[in-house]
Amino acid sequence: MEAKIELWICLIIKCKEDKLKILDGKYISSVIRSEIKTEVERNSPARPHLCAILIGDNGASRTYVNAKVKACEEVGFKSTLLHYDDISELDLLKKIEEINNDKNIDGLIVQLPLPKHIDENKITLAVKPAKDVDGFHPVNMGKMMLGLDSMIPATPAGIIELIKRYKIETLGKKCVVVGRSNIVGLPISVLLGKNKYPGNCTVTLTHSKSKNLKEICASADILIVALGVANFIKSDMVKKNCVIIDVGISRVKSDKTKSGWKLLGDVDFENVKDKCDYITPVPGGVGPMTIAMLLANTLKAAKKENKF
Ligand code: GUN
Repeated sequence: MEAKIELWICLIIKCKEDKLKILDGKYISSVIRSEIKTEVERNSPARPHLCAILIGDNGASRTYVNAKVKACEEVGFKSTLLHYDDISELDLLKKIEEINNDKNIDGLIVQLPLPKHIDENKITLAVKPAKDVDGFHPVNMGKMMLGLDSMIPATPAGIIELIKRYKIETLGKKCVVVGRSNIVGLPISVLLGKNKYPGNCTVTLTHSKSKNLKEICASADILIVALGVANFIKSDMVKKNCVIIDVGISRVKSDKTKSGWKLLGDVDFENVKDKCDYITPVPGGVGPMTIAMLLANTLKAAKKENKF
């Protein structure tokens, strides 16, 4: 009898131990959107207004921008999409200046990457910091570094929000970030090293030239991967019971889907899922959070203009 009870207790503990927790960005994003929608309705008829500029015919960029515009409509924002097949750098700078001075527009994003003849840095610098809801302008980046009130880039902000809403402990944890982009890797490494919650991690920022990447990743309590290489992280690169945030999203051919394509993250989900405690799925993890935080930044910009 006693042996039986012991066996049951062991089984219950094991089930608990084995329970992988999905960081459900799709769900959390829907909660944030409904919070934003409620705030917009309360302040009706004032509505935040986001303007998105898209240049060229990059399929992935078009999908992202359409999703951003659709999300605006869903929460009651106004949105304007300016899509140019092509535009000179000078004309784009003029357009940005016009939008900077347009009192009816609260937030402006220029979807990246840009065509080769347009200097990304010049464009980033041209967007007025108060309307820079991507948080890419050096004024916003600098303020973020110093912990001052600023627009936080949407993807890192989405990761922080996921960590908060799932109450993941970060104090004293070892966090490894793979990928040093200005949009994700660099800002998230700063944010998670800050002396606050979430933060207080010991952060290692790795990249394509890092030596012993496998060992470094395998030492992480929190592993954030933003490399853009499908299924790059395998189970021998992760620590048991770690938290994995997968920012990658690659479209690869598949004979198993109707469309002939499937989306893959930078982490081989099936390969690592039995080893980690928490993981973001792809799709449905960080992607929807990015859009939710872009909306949050646009609402914040509108509030600063005293519209709300
Ligand atoms: N390209 C990839 N991610 C982003 C983003 O968050 N904002 C913009 N503007 N372009 C991107």
